[in-house]
Amino acid sequence: MCGIVGVVGKNDATKIILNGLKRLEYRGYDSAGIYVAGSSNHLVKSIGPIKNLEEKLTPSINGTMGIGHTRWATHGKPTESNAHPHTSENGELILVHNGVIENYDALRQSYLSEDIFYGQTDTEIAVHLVALFKKQGLQTKAAFKKALSLIEGSYAFALVDTNDSETIYVAKNKSPLLIGLGENFNVLCSDALAMLDQTSHFVELMDGEMVTLTATDAIIENPAGEVIKRDYYVAELDASDIEKGTYPYYMLKEIDEQPVVMRKIVQKYQTIDGEIAIDQDLLTTLKSSDRVYIVACGTSSHAGWASKKFFETLTHLPVEIHLSSEFGYNMPLLSKKPFFIYLSQSGETADSRQVLVKTNELGHPSLTITNVAGSTLSREATYTLLLHAGPEIAVASTKAYTAQIAVMAVLAKALGTEKGIANAVEFDLFHELGLIATAMETMINEKEHLEELTANYLSATRNAFYIGRGNDYYVSMEAALKLKEISYIQAEGFAAGELKHGTIALIEEGTPVIGIITDAVTGQHTRGNLQEVKSRGANTLVISSEGLAKPDDQILLPTVHPLLTSLLAVVPTQLIAYFATLQRGYDVDKPRNLAKSVTVE
Ligand code: F6R
Repeated sequence: MCGIVGVVGKNDATKIILNGLKRLEYRGYDSAGIYVAGSSNHLVKSIGPIKNLEEKLTPSINGTMGIGHTRWATHGKPTESNAHPHTSENGELILVHNGVIENYDALRQSYLSEDIFYGQTDTEIAVHLVALFKKQGLQTKAAFKKALSLIEGSYAFALVDTNDSETIYVAKNKSPLLIGLGENFNVLCSDALAMLDQTSHFVELMDGEMVTLTATDAIIENPAGEVIKRDYYVAELDASDIEKGTYPYYMLKEIDEQPVVMRKIVQKYQTIDGEIAIDQDLLTTLKSSDRVYIVACGTSSHAGWASKKFFETLTHLPVEIHLSSEFGYNMPLLSKKPFFIYLSQSGETADSRQVLVKTNELGHPSLTITNVAGSTLSREATYTLLLHAGPEIAVASTKAYTAQIAVMAVLAKALGTEKGIANAVEFDLFHELGLIATAMETMINEKEHLEELTANYLSATRNAFYIGRGNDYYVSMEAALKLKEISYIQAEGFAAGELKHGTIALIEEGTPVIGIITDAVTGQHTRGNLQEVKSRGANTLVISSEGLAKPDDQILLPTVHPLLTSLLAVVPTQLIAYFATLQRGYDVDKPRNLAKSVTVE
């Protein structure tokens, strides 16, 4: 949700920043801007995706230092004046920001006159405040520090004084920000992905810290002004992990990668002796808990739902799933020994983080399951398990969903085995995940068939329904979210039995209703519900497991372990969403109004 980058001490600053912004575009693409300084200074902004900004950049716009921003609008429309970088009234200070300044209205009224504001963003207050304190006699750094002491909310800031083309001032609070170290140059970025072609050495920043960044130094200070020494870590990612290669869209690449991700999870979580490699301390803590609370948003919460049944079956621990944005402010009566699991691909989701802050305050143990090592949720939870899915760039999550379920299954198997529960001891999970990987490949090879079905059933519809029961209902929720978020078809996932209690009123001649059937008992009832909508004009399409299939079912899933069917059933629904979006002429990877990493509440 907004991405920032910067570089100091390297020729070609424009190119470095532009490449960095392209890699951060998943964080927002409403508008973008760049400031570069060298023998002369340049500030360029544009509305829309980075390519619009790129078109405005002539070769003469270059320098040895600069900052850039790609925006997902929170306060103020995506206009050029609201695009970052923002400037002080005299043009001396330039600033980019990711986050939300919560007290911007109060600060504006207390410190600044209305006529200096040229846009509607919360960010503008920050640059004007620094300018005010500078005007009152402080040096740039001290003025920035003073402004930071007044600002409430989340921020990753990069500030430049146009009189000094060798220093960038950086600050972080609750929004992600990394410093990257190079030889005689340094960079800053919201995500290491952005600067992987420049360096693999990154330094994490903690909330409240400020950095004075020059070509040769990165001086980190805490809010008390003490200098902090912190080692860099080496990012394990490879720049090629984030390229699309021959794929037209990241989403398609990421769907196709799912079998590899399943095998990677097996490889990462299996010891040479075939045991499960999970921290004993985590298992001991979980073993002494009386209830698991999974807290997550969107697709990640759907992965939580898809994990509930196998987790309870294998561990005999009750599992509740909650939406982060609801849970934090309406916390239910908790059990005596709760254990919290935060599912988050990015590890940065602000809605989830506010809950983690609260459960930490209450002293409850927690685990973050995430794709991003060192992310905020990972750092702040008691334990972390990684997804090992490789970077997920497309806004619509696919491989992170299946990876989350698979890692939850690894955890359930390990805990159940630790507790001596027969269901877990006898469950050959790693073998089953291998079979899932192969079955996923079979589904992925069905692209042509799925494309044709999508064209027949979905390409011209206004709305659509996915229905199922139990795990098939949970997959329906995810399938509907995927379809609506990228193709803009109004799609809902329903518990099949609930249709007749109200929603069936929406069924008209030609409404597509897709039934998911992977369970023999509930599948019979879902088939009945499909008949009910069919007799009211619905266009029904059935995704069913081979052993349960009827001759007219259109999509057949290879048979896999009954506890893990969600991992497979979701794959055709991801491809359906992908093809529906292409057929309707939209950008698959960059759906309107969305961003990948949602760092505001
Ligand atoms: C939808 C999607 C979102 C995310 C949600 C949580 O395709 O990706 O619903 O799942 O924003 O994000 P994370 O998992 O990063 O916490």
